[in-house]
Amino acid sequence: MDIIRSRRSIRRFLPDEVKQEDIEGILEAAMFAPSAGNQRPWEFIVVKNETRREQMSKAGPYSRPAAKAPVVILICGDSSRETHKNYWPVDCSAATENMLLEATARNLGSVWLGVYPRQERMEYLSHLFQLPEHIHPFAMVCIGYANEKPAARGFYDPSRVSWEEFGKKKA
Ligand SMILES: Cc1cc2nc3c(=O)[nH]c(=O)nc-3n(C[C@H](O)[C@H](O)[C@H](O)COP(=O)(O)O)c2cc1C
Repeated sequence: MDIIRSRRSIRRFLPDEVKQEDIEGILEAAMFAPSAGNQRPWEFIVVKNETRREQMSKAGPYSRPAAKAPVVILICGDSSRETHKNYWPVDCSAATENMLLEATARNLGSVWLGVYPRQERMEYLSHLFQLPEHIHPFAMVCIGYANEKPAARGFYDPSRVSWEEFGKKKA
């Protein structure tokens, strides 16, 4: 819970390089995510190249952090691996959250940049990476050492919890 509590979206990064073992640890965390029927429909493209990151940062109106993060990982779903139809985005979500948490555990900052389900962002990235038809861009995760320290944002809200029936609050 400490890691979950301390995770924040980081959009400003130091230029320091991210160690290869950290990148691979974050990818391993992604692949330990639960997946519908264990179909594991994910693919990851790790990008350090500055020109390519600059291009990725133009995928959408809120994608700018990709230009400045030392590493950006594009998470994609492979619909050809689906044994449980239409679940690839759900599986990729679980993988993406695992990446953010593992980055936090390794003292790295990270932010999830939304791609799916925005068609124009998906098309832009598909074209940029020349992806085959069955590979769908899902999200970008920026990773690097944080150059900002935002205060904790999450909180427990009991008003969002029903007990036994919708709308039934704890006595
Ligand atoms: C599906 C999804 C898409 C997001 N897309 C973006 C994005 O495009 N750009 C960005 O800067 N942050 C993006 N975020 C990060 C959210 O803005 C952030 O998680 C939210 O404001 C809560 O702040 P926190 O992560 O620091 O707790 C996204 C988060 C999720 C879950």
